[in-house]
Amino acid sequence: MSLLEVRRLTAGYASVPVVRDVSLSVERGELVALLGANGAGKTTTLLAISGLVSVYSGEIRLDAGSIAGLAPAQRARAGIQHVPEDRSLFPSLTVDETIRLACGARRPPKWVLEYFPALGELGGRRVAALSGGEQQMLALARALCRDPSLLIVDEMSLGLAPLVVNAFFPVLRRIAAERGCGVLIVEQHVHVALRWVDRVHVMAGGTMAASGTTDEMRPRIDELAGAYLGERTVPSSVPTSADNEKGENDEGV
Ligand SMILES: Nc1ncnc2c1ncn2[C@@H]1O[C@H](COP(=O)(O)OP(=O)(O)O)[C@@H](O)[C@H]1O
Ligand SMILES: [Mg+2]
Repeated sequence: MSLLEVRRLTAGYASVPVVRDVSLSVERGELVALLGANGAGKTTTLLAISGLVSVYSGEIRLDAGSIAGLAPAQRARAGIQHVPEDRSLFPSLTVDETIRLACGARRPPKWVLEYFPALGELGGRRVAALSGGEQQMLALARALCRDPSLLIVDEMSLGLAPLVVNAFFPVLRRIAAERGCGVLIVEQHVHVALRWVDRVHVMAGGTMAASGTTDEMRPRIDELAGAYLGERTVPSSVPTSADNEKGENDEGV
């Protein structure tokens, strides 16, 4: 039984379906990447899982129970946390205030900040003064404060330097493994994602073009990149797997 099971989902905006017949799954403890060119329908799929766009047909199950009828807040209570592409932080709040707001004015669980120790030193800093990487850490920490069973992160690496991107992946892997939650990310650095994630779904033109384990997909990466992913897959300045195997970038964030 999967943690998240999306079956034959058709969803979109107002009366316009933009994703059709999309199926995907995420298991507990698994880090899964949703890949695809701009406009492929990745964000719409994530929003459908969180209950934020119209679903026309198909099923969305969390822990085997249908969540189709639940409002976004109910889905959050059921264990879904969604970090949107813009991260939706309040620029004028401090790091501490952001976390406290997420924790219902209580202190955050200690384990949350253990994944992002750098945040511990930024408590009084305003969100507006944080770097992109620090903002992403804060957005992830805020989501983790609710101890999600499914963590969704849209455009995980948007606006981040390649070295920073590389540092987030081992942290996400640890979160999935140690918390036993499923982590579903949209990632533009395909070659980097393929070194860290357990499974990959590739969208194109609003449909699911390919799905498989990372081992199954790796030999197909050039074919998939050429056919579906456009120029965003060219990892010119992103460290390669050879760098990673030397263990230079495994330090966490
Ligand atoms: N608010 C909206 N209203 C209508 N169409 C939209 C809206 N947002 C996105 N779309 C359309 O849905 C399609 C898929 O977009 P999106 O899910 O954002 O793709 P991706 O995240 O893969 O870049 C695009 O053709 C886009 O123009
Ligand atoms: Mg998007």
